[in-house]
Amino acid sequence: MAEILGLGCSHGPIILNPAENWANSRERVFARVPNYEPPPQLVAELGDDNGLTQDRKDQQRVVDSFKVLHDRLHEFNPDVLMIIGDDQAENFKQENLPPFCIYTGSQVEGYPFQRPGARVNLWNAAPDTKYSFSCPKEFSQAMRNHLIRDGFDLASSSALKGWEWGLAHAHINPLVFLDPEGKFPLLPFFVNCYGEEAGPDYPPRPTPQRCYQLGQGIRKFLDTRSEKIAVVASSSWSHSFLAHRFQCRQIDVETDRRNLEWVRSGQGVKLSELTPEELQESGDHEILNWIITLGIIGDKPANIVDVLESQTQLAYRVTAIWE
Ligand SMILES: [Fe+2]
Repeated sequence: MAEILGLGCSHGPIILNPAENWANSRERVFARVPNYEPPPQLVAELGDDNGLTQDRKDQQRVVDSFKVLHDRLHEFNPDVLMIIGDDQAENFKQENLPPFCIYTGSQVEGYPFQRPGARVNLWNAAPDTKYSFSCPKEFSQAMRNHLIRDGFDLASSSALKGWEWGLAHAHINPLVFLDPEGKFPLLPFFVNCYGEEAGPDYPPRPTPQRCYQLGQGIRKFLDTRSEKIAVVASSSWSHSFLAHRFQCRQIDVETDRRNLEWVRSGQGVKLSELTPEELQESGDHEILNWIITLGIIGDKPANIVDVLESQTQLAYRVTAIWE
């Protein structure tokens, strides 16, 4: 039976940036919303320095939280590091948009600082900085085969060709904090969280219920193995610019506080009962990555390392560990 460590984190581009750059990202995002008017909480956080004081505090908390996850991960020393994240029109584009895809190649690269918004980054790294990871090919093929034979019609890919930057940011951004040296064999797992948000050429995102079932299916496979597995749920929860309930103007803090209590108290299964419409309304599209992880972990309470609720940082950020 596999030994499992669960980690939950965010992956949004600003986690790579110094606080002084967060206002740029914020302004780019707000510019997409017609007639954008900041909600009162945001106005208060912006204060008289365009949010810099708040951003400095939040940015430090992001770094501190990743340090907690990093240290626990390296202490655990997994045989496989599985990251569940969403590809946001990076490798998976109109020619192929699977709900779920497991990576079965033997290695993979990422260039987290190629993205224009990441050129100014915490490490002062050059845009072409490359991170390389070896991947557990036999293990991922076995997981794929097990899941398909167990009734999950899973896509698989042994090469990422669609995107010259390699891994999607949902995978590579957390890795810069968690395992930049590529110490642990990496298993990237892709989920279509964009879904209908990306327009009629995109299929709907998989349902929370199916994501939870898939997590349970992955757990069944893991229980046949003897490796130590670290599973990372990579995403923020409600995004201000996706929260249709609030005309894409603010994070749905209330909904995510409720979700957080379910995760904290080991009732993650309740997230599987959310409807696609509820996710769409609250801007929680990417929480599907966490729901798959919760299916793997089961009803174990999470240790919540930190929660960022400020509107200035654009999304509800939870950092968690399941032992
Ligand atoms: Fe994302």
